[in-house]
Amino acid sequence: MKFFIDTANIKEIKDAHSMGMVDGVTTNPSLIAKEEGKFEDIIKQICEIVDGPVSAEVIGLDTKTMVKEAKNLAAIASNIVVKIPMTIDGIKAVKILSQEQIKTNVTLIFSPLQALMAAKSGASYASPFVGRLDDLSQDGMTLVEQIVDIYDNYAFDTEIIVASIRNPIHVLEAALMGADIATIPFNVLSKLAAHPLTDKGIDAFLADWNKAKK
Ligand code: G3P
Repeated sequence: MKFFIDTANIKEIKDAHSMGMVDGVTTNPSLIAKEEGKFEDIIKQICEIVDGPVSAEVIGLDTKTMVKEAKNLAAIASNIVVKIPMTIDGIKAVKILSQEQIKTNVTLIFSPLQALMAAKSGASYASPFVGRLDDLSQDGMTLVEQIVDIYDNYAFDTEIIVASIRNPIHVLEAALMGADIATIPFNVLSKLAAHPLTDKGIDAFLADWNKAKK
């Protein structure tokens, strides 16, 4: 399973990269807005650190504008993936871009049929947002399970990026379901490595060592 990091923060990306945990990066306009600097400069910097796919989102809402923005974004670096919202105009843009070999990530997916349309339009990636569904008392991971089944049934190449991850259980369930990718916020990534018994074990080993070696 691939781990992407869901942030535009350079320090977080460098830190996760040094752990060997960054197979790719996803950003969105809200994540970019939190950081200092111009959108393009931030994306350029991320692409210099990470070899894997880096998702950068378009702002336009009509097909023509999305395609134009996508081409500009794709020119920034060879590992750019253009994030396109799941709308009719969006999937029209994905179709055009896939014919031009520009990689796309269809974002804001909340239903299995949206994911099916994204795959049929030629998207490289589809991003179901699990946390935002959980927030509405709907089970986000059930959506992922359904998308995994649909993509398996028809052998679609589109990879599933489990997005809007809020906790380690989302990552565990995504891995058990066979989702291709989890895009993980830095705070959740740190939690994956932690266990109180690991800390307790280290403390006990050190205490025994210090006692015996005094
Ligand atoms: O990058 C898309 C997604 O992961 C955003 O998550 O926490 O804003 O629902 P969130």
